[in-house]
Amino acid sequence: MRDMRGRDVLSILDFGREDLEGLFEYADIIRKRGVSGRPLQGKVMALAFFEPSTRTRLSFETAMKRLGGDAIGFTSEEGTSIEKGESYVDTIRMLDAYSDVIVVRHKYDGAAKLAAEVAENPVINGGDGKQHHPTQAMIDLYTLKTLFGTVDGLTIGVLGDLKYGRAASSFILGLTHFRPKKVCLISPPQLAARREVLDQARERGLPYEEVVSLDEVIGDLDALYVTRIQKERFPDVEEYEKVKGAYVVTLELLQKKAKRDLKILHPLPKVEEIDPRVDQTHYASYYEQARLGVPLRQALLLKLLE
Ligand code: NCD
Repeated sequence: MRDMRGRDVLSILDFGREDLEGLFEYADIIRKRGVSGRPLQGKVMALAFFEPSTRTRLSFETAMKRLGGDAIGFTSEEGTSIEKGESYVDTIRMLDAYSDVIVVRHKYDGAAKLAAEVAENPVINGGDGKQHHPTQAMIDLYTLKTLFGTVDGLTIGVLGDLKYGRAASSFILGLTHFRPKKVCLISPPQLAARREVLDQARERGLPYEEVVSLDEVIGDLDALYVTRIQKERFPDVEEYEKVKGAYVVTLELLQKKAKRDLKILHPLPKVEEIDPRVDQTHYASYYEQARLGVPLRQALLLKLLE
């Protein structure tokens, strides 16, 4: 495995299968044995969140604190000098001076890459516009590994907003590191995965097919990755109104058509795409997936900073 020390985490394609497997092993060790001492004592992580977040921000913060490090940061531009007109780049420069690693989330595509260009220390992309969310993809792949023992050979559905969803885009790209049997990309035609994602998936040999009907493929799936329609990224609300509620995974559908051990993943937050009655069933793996975010991010921070 390559040394990950000091590296930026901008896209899931910045890493190889071996890097990811090393990370998963490390996260397993942390889960089973915990961490001894305070390995990141004295290190500071800056959380630069220009867009809302619950899990990404708080699980990074939890991970850092459990390793003995500290976290600083903000959760919106409000209260920062950006309100006085300071540029994004200057804000990043300051955070770079105060901390050892920056996690940045921004509504603009490419914002994390720009931060990495000006910062000396590692930058972790906590989500840039519709493009990338690499640490979420790491968690998603780690969840599959934990649930099934492997990602290879699985039939996986990815449902919902594959156009504007950065978690879905990074998950699809992340799957190209492995050898799933088949990947069904399920969305209304208006929300199909973007050309650049599909081109890379094809070039990297991912066996995928694009379908519109969940009913037709649900019976084949081992895992279904559900995503939220990304209302805030639609240039036109009317377009959103046309597709909202396009899919709802109901308990009836699962009981009638899904494999008995189908596992449902979701990066969360979920709104109405999963029937709440599913939450209490053995299909629901999204809370477990969110829980795995902490050990995975602990493993990542240790590899970048130790
Ligand atoms: C996702 C995000 O922000 O891209 N959330 C997350 O980090 N788990 C997904 C979403 O907002 O729908």
